[in-house]
Amino acid sequence: MFDPSRVNAFAQRETPFYYYDMDLLERTLAAARKSADTLGFHVHYALKANFNDRVLGSIRDTGFGADCVSGNEVRRAIEAGFDPDKIVFAGVGKSDKEITYALSEDIFAFNVESIQELEVIDALAGALEKRARVALRINPNVDAHTHQYITTGLDENKFGIAHWELAEAMETLRGCPHIELVGIHFHVGSQITDLNVFKSLCVKANELNNWFDERGIRLKVLNVGGGLGVDYYEPDKQSIPDFHAYFSVFDEFLERKPGQEVHFELGRALVSQCGSLVSRVLYVKNGIKKNFLIIDAGMTELMRPALYQAYHRIENLTADTGTYGDDTKHYDVVGPICESSDCFGKEVLLPLTRRGDLIAIRTAGAYGEVMASRYNLREEIRYVYSDQP
Ligand code: LLP
Repeated sequence: MFDPSRVNAFAQRETPFYYYDMDLLERTLAAARKSADTLGFHVHYALKANFNDRVLGSIRDTGFGADCVSGNEVRRAIEAGFDPDKIVFAGVGKSDKEITYALSEDIFAFNVESIQELEVIDALAGALEKRARVALRINPNVDAHTHQYITTGLDENKFGIAHWELAEAMETLRGCPHIELVGIHFHVGSQITDLNVFKSLCVKANELNNWFDERGIRLKVLNVGGGLGVDYYEPDKQSIPDFHAYFSVFDEFLERKPGQEVHFELGRALVSQCGSLVSRVLYVKNGIKKNFLIIDAGMTELMRPALYQAYHRIENLTADTGTYGDDTKHYDVVGPICESSDCFGKEVLLPLTRRGDLIAIRTAGAYGEVMASRYNLREEIRYVYSDQP
């Protein structure tokens, strides 16, 4: 929801830009923190969702750790002031250089995705005379019921170590003097709205936790990843996800042995709703079959619709200030990029729209700014914070 004075202020600005509602971000983080603390859970924020400086600063101040997927994300987290002892490093393809860097910073743990990676980390840690803490990322073969491109926990996905490889992984670990096994890690997918998926994950995690326990290995950490979805259709209805319901599933169904910690890697749920992409209508093109709104933001600023056919709510902010009549029309809202997939929404019902109107594409705080590109030599992405004059 944007009040008219905000829209008037936007009108003076060059578009497109990301707008971050810092108050909503703070309230979202506080809600997540409170629910997690109540149950004694630990949250590592998945930097990949958004590593904008101010956003990251608020998350650091909340006291969360960081979940990183590249050496540069580890570096960004450290520069932003996250405690290395609360940084985990995941990813199927960590390079030697990235591993060495993370070792030198003494991060909390590597989430290891293959047996070969164990051997590489052991050798690199040995060369630095360090001991690497690792959690084995196990592919639990749980269907996340989400878009195929953001499903990660099925046997056909490239992520993690398969459950049938575990005995071999343990055998390998016995020969790795520079590795300390601290836990197991899972992540089954993203934008998960059916909490039953997490229940299924708990069942698998319990089986695996027992598997280790039966072999005399008491794991310190059960890391269940991220994935909690948000409401892209009605961003103002529940602008803060129900963290309590989410964490409660794990509290109820994940069996912890004495001393075991539960870790989470939330990304989207923490930052999606605080971000909107604000753009201007460049042209209104009434075709024979279609009416097009050509706006000045494209897939270069927000790639999700082009890449995943993702839905984002689109609003005409100028019309919503109340100066326009009640007439509406269906529009295909498209960007200026030379690709047919550069489309934010088809047949979107909007107030009668004019050149110069401001458009908001909502729920864009996660996987928006971070996935921007310079394709077509587009301008560097701009952003505005709600507490800026
Ligand atoms: N942990 C791991 C190991 C992950 O791979 C991910 C996301 C997360 C945590 C955070 O998941 P979240 O809580 O944000 O769902 N670009 C896609 C999403 C890719 C997600 C990749 N992994 C999108 O725009 O929908």
